Amino acid sequence: MTRHSDTHTHGHGRGQGHGQGHSHDHSGGHHSTDVDVDWDSVATTLETGAELQLPALRRTAAHLGELLGPRAQVRRVLDIGSGPGVMTCVLAEAFADAETVAVDGTPGLLERTLARAERLGLGGRVAVRHAELPEGLHTGGDGPGADGLGAADLIWSSKAVHHLGDQQGALDALAATLSPGGVLAVAEGGLPMRFLPRDIGIGRPGLQARLDAVQEHWFAVMRAELPGAVPVVEDWPAMLGRAGLTRVGSFTSLLDLPAPLGGAGRSFLHVQLTRVREVSGDLLDAEDLGTLDVLLDPEAQQGILHRPDAFLLSATTVFTGVRAAATDGRTR
Ligand SMILES: C[S@@+](CC[C@H](N)C(=O)[O-])C[C@H]1O[C@@H](n2cnc3c(N)ncnc32)[C@H](O)[C@@H]1O
Repeated sequence: MTRHSDTHTHGHGRGQGHGQGHSHDHSGGHHSTDVDVDWDSVATTLETGAELQLPALRRTAAHLGELLGPRAQVRRVLDIGSGPGVMTCVLAEAFADAETVAVDGTPGLLERTLARAERLGLGGRVAVRHAELPEGLHTGGDGPGADGLGAADLIWSSKAVHHLGDQQGALDALAATLSPGGVLAVAEGGLPMRFLPRDIGIGRPGLQARLDAVQEHWFAVMRAELPGAVPVVEDWPAMLGRAGLTRVGSFTSLLDLPAPLGGAGRSFLHVQLTRVREVSGDLLDAEDLGTLDVLLDPEAQQGILHRPDAFLLSATTVFTGVRAAATDGRTR
């Protein structure tokens, strides 16, 4: 099946860089928008991007532990749409008594997850499950014992639900997979990533806002093209409530890497800007394209790889809900 991704410079907690695919025309023949993704080709970028977030991911895992409560026995954790498994491994570290299962539709990313777990000494506690979603939410995907995902005390899903046509249906299925008292946490909100000042001394000020706009267009086309796409008001707390969860809430974690940015952050931004130019370049005017070309020039002192004012600032919102335990008298 076709899978989709988005660019990591975008907000709403959306995406990572993505690879090649074919183009579709969605705007009366004026622009083409490439929404298909070869996830394997973006594996390194997905992993680098998540590694830049590691401190925030560890804080997030600790916060999820608090939500589960100090006496909770966390025996099984699922990471749905786990990508290269960076958060899978953070969760395995945070919940040392649990089996943590990475669930994804891209075998190469699951292999990366196993290799990462092995490197970090988590090999015995991290498992992977190949599953195409949404079908895999019900069948549990391929392989032995795959007659369902199996109950979990904690389900984490970051930037994956928005790649499924029926987002409410996916949340319903995930909520039904929770053990009583279990927590579902979806990272699907936040702010667009910022990495340059408003005026960068080349082109018209405000480039980042215009890049956000073209990526918003990309996202809308991506969603519209998903199999079984169902429009929904993306009120995540309300959606979690409709999925039958209680104690619905959210928290936001900040990634704040100030200027001057280190090499890993710069390389990451270079990949992301390259992708924006490839996928959405025809929605930008000539001046902005020229500015992007300077930013992408590996030799230019004003390029993203060298300029002293580059930074990384983003906020990721995680929406959470709890499956009521039999003894849990609290209500929504
Ligand atoms: C944007 S990446 C997010 C990866 C990781 N959770 C993170 O936050 O960095 C989306 C992930 O969802 C997976 N994915 C997307 N659509 C899927 C589908 N229909 N079935 C299974 N996996 C899918 C992709 O393989 C990819 O690993």
